[in-house]
Amino acid sequence: MVKLTFVQADGTEHQVDATLGLSVMQVALSQGVPGISAECNGSAACATCHVYFDASVFDLLPAVQTHEDDMLDFAASDRNPGSRLSCQVQVTEAIAGTRIQLPDLQ
Ligand code: FES
Repeated sequence: MVKLTFVQADGTEHQVDATLGLSVMQVALSQGVPGISAECNGSAACATCHVYFDASVFDLLPAVQTHEDDMLDFAASDRNPGSRLSCQVQVTEAIAGTRIQLPDLQ
């Protein structure tokens, strides 16, 4: 279990206990964090689980695969270098304490 902090677009923070091995999307949904829809339930086919990771953890995340890269182009909010589909990023010890910014829209 590690701590993650989700930050809403309005600045509201939700610190949660995240189970190792779950996706960041699964953690957000299971902990009642608003702002992630996850309409495809983690199949990397909807981009409604878009989040922004801080640059400090980019190298600690799994590489963006082609299908994720393609879907991020369809995200409702602007894509930036920290953009990821949260269903494609697993919780690991390496990202313990990370702050994850949620976009305005999904
Ligand atoms: S839940 Fe649909 S792309 Fe992540």
